[in-house]
Amino acid sequence: MRVLLIGGGGREHAIAWKLSQSPHLTNLYIAPGNSGTAALGRNLPLPMPKTGAPKAEIDAYLYRVTLTARDLGIDLVFVAPEDPLAWGLIDRLENAGIAAFGPSKAAAALEASKSWAKAFMARHDIPHPTTASFDDLEAARDYVRNAKTQLVVKADGLAVGKGAIVTSTAKEALQAVDELMVQGIAGTAGSKITIEERIGPREVSGHAFSDGKTFVPMPLSCDHKAVFDGNQGPNTGGMGVYSPPWWADDGLAEEISRSIIGPAVEGMRTEGRPFKGIVYPGVMATERGPQVFEFNARFGDPETQALLVRLKSDLLEIVWACANGNLKDVDVEWSEDASVTVALASDGYPAAYKTGLPISGVEEVDSDVAVFHAGARRDADGTLVTAGGRVLNVTATGKTLAEARQKAYANVERIHFEGMHYRRDIGLQPGES
Ligand code: GLY
Repeated sequence: MRVLLIGGGGREHAIAWKLSQSPHLTNLYIAPGNSGTAALGRNLPLPMPKTGAPKAEIDAYLYRVTLTARDLGIDLVFVAPEDPLAWGLIDRLENAGIAAFGPSKAAAALEASKSWAKAFMARHDIPHPTTASFDDLEAARDYVRNAKTQLVVKADGLAVGKGAIVTSTAKEALQAVDELMVQGIAGTAGSKITIEERIGPREVSGHAFSDGKTFVPMPLSCDHKAVFDGNQGPNTGGMGVYSPPWWADDGLAEEISRSIIGPAVEGMRTEGRPFKGIVYPGVMATERGPQVFEFNARFGDPETQALLVRLKSDLLEIVWACANGNLKDVDVEWSEDASVTVALASDGYPAAYKTGLPISGVEEVDSDVAVFHAGARRDADGTLVTAGGRVLNVTATGKTLAEARQKAYANVERIHFEGMHYRRDIGLQPGES
């Protein structure tokens, strides 16, 4: 089978790595890919427009991808990132007669519009925090002044991880409203905002494969969004993940499937937007039970890296079945092992950082530990150099979470680039150091 994978981060390297293990795969193309995917298939020079790019640029991109898929005789396009899903790449491909894995534009609204998603959750009794949406600045400020709880202020549209501001006081919440609606830190995505009750204490990522009719849940995983240990500092795209959560029993996963993923897949189907792809609710485990603070319409990054090393079944068979509406015919098995992914980041990330710095030690990593490339590239003489904020994801498995963690960090220490920083508490359990 000839597969084209869209994307170029750590998530896509992990997907390419897993797809490459399938006996059904004959050719793998990745657009645009990175230095990691280059070792597994052919990277194509099809750079993706940035979030919020002009419509003409997006249209040209959608056209080029569809044409390339047709010219290469691609059997399946796997669209991994949220932007091309929200732009309608799946619709374009399917209209051109090319099978594709990912939600349609209408289904991707679950992630692309926070206000649409909240209204959808209300219609289908999916538990979520109290939320209000605003496109009027004064109304938003009034809501904050009258709120009785701590608040999270979010841009309505896609905002590359800059769209959600967690606040502790009314002053901070008012500042967040101004940052999004007046200063425009998330671009046009922040011209409309949602303000929701801040819930907690524990965050968990639920993921499921869906073919639009049914779903198969994946194990739970826990991302670490803050840049420093102990959840200190500004939010990032994710500094590390462990799976499964040591603090949860099977009941939490079952409840997330029962009260969140099942009603979401069924609700999208009954509303005429069948969701074919990865449903990924961001969930808070609260005293009231699991509550959705956001829906995503794709694999999480870096959750994917920690999940796919636990997947025993053939990923290509699963996504092909989803694309064709036959998920019920496929077995999806997971390893009992735990996994830990540690993101190695550039000095300064998530603010400004330098790129082009040589990376050493990747070849010294144990053979059973995966190093998924994210913001990395090969320079003209083949040297691996930094090219982004999150550079590499070191991913290890173990019989226990403690073993996976020990293995991941032992291997992290063999890798070096100037200014490299990472969290040291991914998967850390009480009483461990
Ligand atoms: N890990 C967070 C995300 O993928 O949105």
